[in-house]
Amino acid sequence: MIRKYRFGTPFETDAVVRELPLSEGMPEVGTITTEDGFCMTYTMAKQDMVYGLGESNRGINKRGYRYISNCSDIPNHAEDILSLYGAHNFLILSGEKTFGLFIDYPSDLEFDIGFTRSDVMTIRCKRADLYLYVLEGDSPLDIVREFRGIIGRSYIPPRFAFGFGQSRWGYKTAEDFRTVVRKHRENHIPMDMLYMDIDYMQGYKDFTVNPEEFPDFKAFVSEMKEAKIHPVPIIDAGVKIEDGYDVYEEGKRNGYFCKREDGSDFEAAVWPGLTHFPDVLDPEARAWFGGKYERLTSAGIDGFWNDMNEPAIFYTPEGVEALREAYDRELRTGREIPPFALGSMAAGLANSRKDYDSFYHKVNGKMVRHSDVHNLYGYNMTRAAGEAFEKISPDKRILLFSRSSYIGMHRYGGIWTGDNKSWWSHLLLNLKMLPSLNMCGFLYVGADLGGFGCDTTRDLLLRWLALGVFTPLMRNHSALDTRLQEAYQFEGIEDFRHVISVRYRLIPYLYSEYMKAALRDDMMFKPLAFVYPDDTMARRVEDQLMVGNEIMIAPVYTQNAEGRYVYLPEEMLLVKFLPDGTLHTEQLPQGHHYVEVALNEVPLFVRKKKCIPLVKAAENTADIDMSTIEWLGYSGAEYELYEDDGITRI
Ligand code: GLC
Repeated sequence: MIRKYRFGTPFETDAVVRELPLSEGMPEVGTITTEDGFCMTYTMAKQDMVYGLGESNRGINKRGYRYISNCSDIPNHAEDILSLYGAHNFLILSGEKTFGLFIDYPSDLEFDIGFTRSDVMTIRCKRADLYLYVLEGDSPLDIVREFRGIIGRSYIPPRFAFGFGQSRWGYKTAEDFRTVVRKHRENHIPMDMLYMDIDYMQGYKDFTVNPEEFPDFKAFVSEMKEAKIHPVPIIDAGVKIEDGYDVYEEGKRNGYFCKREDGSDFEAAVWPGLTHFPDVLDPEARAWFGGKYERLTSAGIDGFWNDMNEPAIFYTPEGVEALREAYDRELRTGREIPPFALGSMAAGLANSRKDYDSFYHKVNGKMVRHSDVHNLYGYNMTRAAGEAFEKISPDKRILLFSRSSYIGMHRYGGIWTGDNKSWWSHLLLNLKMLPSLNMCGFLYVGADLGGFGCDTTRDLLLRWLALGVFTPLMRNHSALDTRLQEAYQFEGIEDFRHVISVRYRLIPYLYSEYMKAALRDDMMFKPLAFVYPDDTMARRVEDQLMVGNEIMIAPVYTQNAEGRYVYLPEEMLLVKFLPDGTLHTEQLPQGHHYVEVALNEVPLFVRKKKCIPLVKAAENTADIDMSTIEWLGYSGAEYELYEDDGITRI
């Protein structure tokens, strides 16, 4: 049962695709006031747990902290960070009463879930212009399915996107890219995708390719395809301001860029220097920008990642001018400049509220202030690509994922969870985010394995890959100037080969579970509490997940640990993929267990009376031989295998 309430004059975000009648009066959950913005308060019972909020910090149970939906370019996401790259305003309160809430509101929205007062949940935002959806169902999973039913089917990537991808910010020359492929093939480390970060472009200009390095880009792509590698270029939100650059000139001529209040094109500095932001909220500009992807698809490209689309701003000319004025003021007056004051002003140049307040989108002929719809930008940039692909490639699926997102974008692409760090805590955060992302429709998801910022270590990368084995997007990505972290950079390459090979052995299972989840509005990653709701111990588990309908995972996320404690809500079959290619299997009874897991092993647990398909390892998805399927698990169990050609749109 879903009730839809309207407050004020909401912005139509297109998050929900199903028409629902409006309910009259006030919802029967909590207390709502609208005099001073929107504010909903709900008194939580002691045992109530709160799930959801998609890409956000902290636990699977969100209780006890504060979160703000405000898409942010935030590479330092430590524990106190309130906003990440996505804004996913859906949560489920489960306990004394069980219900779901979706607040369709595209600007800053605060969720105080027992932070100010441990028993009170407060949801508030500045303007009382929004849709509120209240969802009731028999269980959290039921409510998720209801919700997913109104927001539309999740994006379905091509099957090759379930392979392993290697990435790094810093690959520049054609030779750099070839080396990565060669090293993988030489060392027999499986690989399907080669990510191309900003340096493949000419001067960081979208839809261009550095002509010196790639004089014949089409030939380069074919060469990669022959090696069964899909190159996946990055596309950034900002379009470089440069005379003679046709994308810039066309956009300017046609008024397709975001505007300042005086009607001039808004300028913001990102990687290429000063850029304009395509006004992807305007359908005409969106179609125009999306159409540009064809420049790369026509060269054979069949995958993209959209970046910097919060949109990230390093600075604006106005911001720099204000800083200069402040500096002059302080210096010329002879007063001593408080060093921290100017320093923090300079740091505040990036992603500043003032800048987000100062530009506009054209929506139905009206100018809308960016900050009022901020959380829709990355969504609509990716929608631009997704809508264009329906025309450019009507028959075949294209890989697409984005950094910033809002609910609704899940129909067009997946997401990666942005610039994490090579921290053990971020391995755990990666795990905790997976179910909440699924709740919000984002199924094709993954984190930068090994960590993006900071120097990784061999053990962290191995442990993180052992989690990545199960995430639909399995990509090793790292930042410029960090320690090289391709699998072949470390001693004992065979351990990396083994862990990544396990992924390929599991692809028939992972792909089947993904497809079933997408086609049935289900979750691929579930908290244990969703599957064992009556088990109080299972409800508390924050570091294990159900993956698909037949297995549970419990990755090791602590340095120097030689295993970990695992809670089994029922009898299960522990399976360890050993480095010599054999399996260790052991039936374990319900309860707590200490499970030893060496650095080069991948563990999983098959649920009682279930089984999963397992194939022989392959070096890429195209070479997976389905005739080698064997069944792993309980004898007599049945499994619903999903098979298709992996590329035709459905
Ligand atoms: C952003 C992205 C990161 C990328 C970098 C350079 O920080 O999040 O993945 O490597 O930009 O393009």
